[in-house]
Amino acid sequence: MKILVTGGLGFIGSNFIRHILSSHSDHQVVNLDKKTYAGNPENLKDLKKNSRYAWVRADILDRKKVDRLMGQVQAVVHFAAQTHVDRSILDSGEFVRTNVLGTQVLLESARAYGVKRFVHVSTDEVYGSKPEGESKEEDMLLPNSPYAASKAASDHLVRSYFVTYGFPAVVTRSSNNFGPYQYPEKAVPLLMTNAMQDKPYPLYGDGLQVRDWLYVLDHVRALDLILEKGRPGEIYNIGGTHSCANLELARQVLRLMGKPETLIQKVPDRPGHDRRYALNCDKLRALGWKPEFSFDKALRDTITWYQQNKSWWSKLKKDKDYQTYYEKQYKWTVVSR
Ligand code: NAD
Ligand code: TYD
Repeated sequence: MKILVTGGLGFIGSNFIRHILSSHSDHQVVNLDKKTYAGNPENLKDLKKNSRYAWVRADILDRKKVDRLMGQVQAVVHFAAQTHVDRSILDSGEFVRTNVLGTQVLLESARAYGVKRFVHVSTDEVYGSKPEGESKEEDMLLPNSPYAASKAASDHLVRSYFVTYGFPAVVTRSSNNFGPYQYPEKAVPLLMTNAMQDKPYPLYGDGLQVRDWLYVLDHVRALDLILEKGRPGEIYNIGGTHSCANLELARQVLRLMGKPETLIQKVPDRPGHDRRYALNCDKLRALGWKPEFSFDKALRDTITWYQQNKSWWSKLKKDKDYQTYYEKQYKWTVVSR
């Protein structure tokens, strides 16, 4: 099978491509990625000489280029997106363009070319905050950030293509991922890399917001399974492995790294910050998935990866885009009022 992966130079996409090529000797991957600030060819430099892999630099909004690739593939796994909640608070325009309009372009093209399978990779954030219990796939969507709203809009579009055209699409909603190759603006890699630099970690608000943490290598195994066995028109939650408050996570990581808790620095809360996410994943488990890694092992392996790949992340942290972003970020209180 030849698969079009969008956003494969990013965190989860690159882990997915590596997984697919190593576990299916008959699969080929073409990776359509614009290479935004979050797209990094180094994430897949080990595949440079792999004849079953190719990267095409393109925007998912570019219908002509998308069409050219769509004609060659049987399946699509769609990761490409603007993904950082904090950036969506500062400027939501690119989120709507890529996440909503970009998904529409892919759906139209895939439908025109008779693609047999389309996996749309989405997030638990579309459900909004869940003070108690677990979000189920049929729950109403109540997104609270511009990022989550743009993802919810794309989920609705995908569903409408199944209902209206019988287009064989599946939606996946995963919880917060962590693991190798995650851009160091997200909580876990920011915490780990700042700790290695003996820099404080900015903890938003009281730090009691709860997230459901999923190791990226368990996520990509779930996506592989859904690509093979997921039923068209269905939504699958992916997660339910380890729930904890941000403060607890920060303490655990610093303890494992042998760094002092004084590195945790409370900063003003993110506007619209969701208090808790929690997923019910019975449907995915019924399909045959269970996590392979314990949270503790996954966290230790991730720390080791960032310790052994300092040149990968220090280059990104020195980048102009990263610096400019952090100059703006903590002006939220001004931005939001
Ligand atoms: P990422 O930010 O690391 O990577 C996004 C990739 O998409 C980059 O390689 C970027 O260059 C590419 N891209 C962005 N805009 C593009 C465009 N217009 N055309 C082509 N390529 C474009 O993201 P990630 O964390 O790997 O997330 C991947 C997907 O998984 C996203 O759809 C995200 O919403 C979803 N998701 C992520 C998480 C998480 O914890 N990271 C959790 C749940 C769902
Ligand atoms: P993040 O990785 O941005 O994922 P999301 O907002 O999509 O859940 O953040 C995870 C949690 O950590 C979230 O509750 C916000 C919090 N957080 C901080 O406290 N400080 C930070 O610097 C970042 C980036 C996040």
